[in-house]
Amino acid sequence: MPVVPVIAIDGPSASGKGAVAQRVAQRLGFHYLDSGAIYRAAGVAARIAGISLDDEAALAGCGAAMDLEFRDGGVLLAGRDVTADVRSEEGGRTASRIATLPLLRAALLARQQRFRQAPGLVADGRDMATVVFPDAGLKVFLTADVAERARRRALQLAAAQDAADAPKGLIEKENSAIIRAPFDTVLAAVLAELVERDERDSARSVAPLKRAADARVLDTTALSIDEAVDAVCLWYQGAQAQH
Ligand code: DC
Repeated sequence: MPVVPVIAIDGPSASGKGAVAQRVAQRLGFHYLDSGAIYRAAGVAARIAGISLDDEAALAGCGAAMDLEFRDGGVLLAGRDVTADVRSEEGGRTASRIATLPLLRAALLARQQRFRQAPGLVADGRDMATVVFPDAGLKVFLTADVAERARRRALQLAAAQDAADAPKGLIEKENSAIIRAPFDTVLAAVLAELVERDERDSARSVAPLKRAADARVLDTTALSIDEAVDAVCLWYQGAQAQH
């Protein structure tokens, strides 16, 4: 059976890898895996089930069993729309915390690998190239200066607050002090959070965020999303030509 191609895109929070990976997938007609959303959903599922974030075995069991579905850009748990919870800042924080737990990571591995379906997959996360799809045909480590990442994330938060239809309930509730502050204050808070998240995601002992030895680095600090997408697609064409 022919091997289904995978493009693995790893990188730190707010590096733009989600947007880039989605557009690369669209352009190539490939499936898309947002692995961060699976960790985020595992945190939400645990909260709904009343499981303590310190109970690793119970978290792993809950993560393995959760009835998770991605539909029309939304996230459903047992048919219930949990998109706002999953996408909130708190959802990201909880995900980063529980993602340090080896049993949970193991419990979510096969679920991620099942996304590998013809004609191909673009997978975005922290350990796509190192752990989940080590045989990916193209591995990209997408990064950007932390100040630029903070600026992008702060702009996203501001936009979410402005957009009437944005899933903003939780963001407002949990980060009200941040959201309602002047932009500079938001930026400083986001920067501090990103530095902390980078540290936790990179320092954990299991599947830390790190560049695979055979990954190509794409620094998007000065690139638009389209330019980054072009670069990844060119690399993919080049990788295909070699086979
Ligand atoms: O990409 P994201 O911000 O949605 O991810 C949320 C958290 O989930 C991130 O801080 C670390 C964790 N994560 C992980 O450990 N491994 C992945 N492959 C994806 C996300």
